[in-house]
Amino acid sequence: MTLENILIDCKKQLTGALNHKKHPFRYFTLASTSKDGTPSLRTVVLREFCADEFSLTIFTDARSKKVEEFKINKWGKFLFYDTSRLVQIILHVKMIEFIDLNNDFKLLPKPSKKDYTSIPKPGTKIQSPEKVKYDYSKDYFRKIIFQAVNLEYLKLARPTHIRAFFSYEDKWKGTYLVP
Ligand SMILES: Cc1cc2nc3c(=O)[nH]c(=O)nc-3n(C[C@H](O)[C@H](O)[C@H](O)COP(=O)(O)O)c2cc1C
Repeated sequence: MTLENILIDCKKQLTGALNHKKHPFRYFTLASTSKDGTPSLRTVVLREFCADEFSLTIFTDARSKKVEEFKINKWGKFLFYDTSRLVQIILHVKMIEFIDLNNDFKLLPKPSKKDYTSIPKPGTKIQSPEKVKYDYSKDYFRKIIFQAVNLEYLKLARPTHIRAFFSYEDKWKGTYLVP
């Protein structure tokens, strides 16, 4: 596979994740750095992807720990893994926008609204999950947009694994790496 085709395929798969609920790249691991310098990890859903800009969007609660962390340190990593194709993609990203769009929140179905309206903030200790109260008139729905600065690709295959690295700095030309 040429370097150019690897990058085209990565972008195609990320676009596919937006349209197909079962696509392996729909859910990915988002890493940030916590205040004490240790890594923070969590699963999130890919909500928007712009192949030209190489920007990616997630939805979250404004009060979540990840938001706090990205406000301090804008750098993060995205880990995608396709279990059938044995493809791993790691994106090094920078948070570029943190958006409060009340109109987008209004368009969400009610069960989704619940994810951004709990009265106590996410991570608060509680007696039981059923007791949490929600106020749908006050939302904490936010979009975070990230810009990818580099991408590392690995495909496990026989007889040869394929590993490659692409970066904005290198105009996304790419290079193969020893797997
Ligand atoms: C399948 C799955 C999908 C998730 N999607 C999101 C998401 O899109 N956005 C989000 O903020 N949290 C999502 N979560 C919850 C996060 O993994 C995490 O628990 C939560 O956001 C709190 O993270 P934080 O305290 O590190 O900010 C998802 C969890 C799972 C299991």
